Amino acid sequence: MIVAPSVLSLDYTRMDEQVRDLNASGAQWIHFDVMDGHFVPNLTFGPDILKAYRKLSSLVLDVHLMVEDPAFFADVFVRAGADVITFHEEAVKAEQIRPLARQIHALGRRAGLSIRPGTEVQVLQPWLKDFDLFLLMSVEPGFGGQAFRPETPQRIQQLKQMLKEAGSEALIEIDGGINVQTGRLCRQAGADVLVAGSYVFHHPDGIGKAVSSLVEV
Ligand code: DX5
Ligand code: ZN
Repeated sequence: MIVAPSVLSLDYTRMDEQVRDLNASGAQWIHFDVMDGHFVPNLTFGPDILKAYRKLSSLVLDVHLMVEDPAFFADVFVRAGADVITFHEEAVKAEQIRPLARQIHALGRRAGLSIRPGTEVQVLQPWLKDFDLFLLMSVEPGFGGQAFRPETPQRIQQLKQMLKEAGSEALIEIDGGINVQTGRLCRQAGADVLVAGSYVFHHPDGIGKAVSSLVEV
């Protein structure tokens, strides 16, 4: 399983040490939540913080844009070192989605499309061949530490089937409320990437143990 610890929950008084723990943990990706205070009622990191991660780590930098203007921020975060840029279907008009995927690909990066828990999986149908990954939110975007939505595994199965029928090899990434129990349900349903914030950074046995329990979930 690809594990993408969400640095929304990292302890910023110990950033250096915690990123070293991540580098040694078996995590392949670092998940970086960008919130603009408009698309979601919270405000997080700008590109200079991502540059710091780029200096400290060679892991895949997985940027999750929860912003109203992903076309602008895609360029900004690619320049700062992002490897994967994911934006929300709900943030843009339908006719902007394919051009935005092309814009990200033209910058030489992987493109992802995300939906909130209340958005039908079916809305992804027109773009199954345009993206490298689809991010299903398993909590309402905006904050860490929320409970996993129980309808998620069934949404993963539905997307898995759609991707198979379309002949797409896109990855399925799940974000929100992930721990060993919910992570296992996601793996069984067909998920490829698990994002986990509070579980990884608040684990009593440390970051390394938390990550390996999800890698082997
Ligand atoms: C929420 C973010 C998540 C968040 C997950 O909007 O997209 O990546 O960090 O946090 P946990 O794992 O604590 O639910
Ligand atoms: Zn996220």
